[in-house]
Amino acid sequence: MSQKIRVIYNQKGGVGKTTLAVNLASCAALRGKRTLLIDSDPQGNATTYVLGSKKQPEKTLTHYYESCLHLNIFRQSIFEYITTQTKIPNLHIVACNRELEELRTKLENKHKIMKLKEGLKNNTYDHVYLDPPPANDFFSLACLIAANEIIIPIDCDAFSIRAAHEIKNTIEEVKQDHNPHLVVKGIIVNQFQKGTKHASSMIQDLKKVGFPILEPFIPTSIKVRESHSEVKPIVIGYPDHSVSQAIFGLFDSLENKVIENVEMIDPLILQNNINNSSEDISLV
Ligand SMILES: Nc1ncnc2c1ncn2[C@@H]1O[C@H](COP(=O)(O)OP(=O)(O)OP(=O)(O)O)[C@@H](O)[C@H]1O
Ligand SMILES: [Mg+2]
Repeated sequence: MSQKIRVIYNQKGGVGKTTLAVNLASCAALRGKRTLLIDSDPQGNATTYVLGSKKQPEKTLTHYYESCLHLNIFRQSIFEYITTQTKIPNLHIVACNRELEELRTKLENKHKIMKLKEGLKNNTYDHVYLDPPPANDFFSLACLIAANEIIIPIDCDAFSIRAAHEIKNTIEEVKQDHNPHLVVKGIIVNQFQKGTKHASSMIQDLKKVGFPILEPFIPTSIKVRESHSEVKPIVIGYPDHSVSQAIFGLFDSLENKVIENVEMIDPLILQNNINNSSEDISLV
């Protein structure tokens, strides 16, 4: 499949969905792919990670879903709701905010679950990344239906194995009812503590779930949190950091490509350009 629509899904909270959606999208952009990140979580964390919280974007996913609640002669397109071009070349974002939560019941009552998928018709982006909320709710399901690939981040704690089994059931149901072509790319192991007995026994248990386990594993580092507060994806801000290197490795293994042979924008040059550019984001 040439155009990837990837959902980074886990109903469990705080496992690294947003961190991975933003950084994998940034990797794609750095690799020269036209990339769209759709923040599908009313928490708006992906939006804040990429754009900061100083300005309220004029166009958001909330506006898109609002338009879906009215009768329209023409099919609505999500591409009219792209908030901004972001400071990262090739990376566009559909932002999200808390108001999306207020639309949930109306969207459910009016059976609008297919609207995200429909809005992505005529997609011209090479890669689309969807960042859903930590729930098995309308907004998550809409992402699972719209995507053609699913990536499952998991952190190394005791509840993660149970969550992985639940995800398996959810995926089976979505495939059966709505999206038979959804491909499970695999599990990304986040916050991995190398050398600990607990982490390696967890990997053994994860293998029993039956999904591919992607490598490398992502270590725990405070730099991840720092990159959130600096409003700069870690692969852009700290490309040589072990977390970034793991994410680049994961991106390339998702693409089945060897790192050395791939042309990419130098993150350090990009970082300098970003640092020298004005603080304001350009809203389109
Ligand atoms: N590898 C890591 N090392 C250290 N901290 C991390 C790592 N990955 C994520 N975090 C931190 O864990 C927290 C949760 O990460 P993130 O927001 O990406 O998870 P999430 O699954 O999107 O959460 P939610 O379910 O609330 O949407 C954040 O504070 C983030 O900085
Ligand atoms: Mg999140």
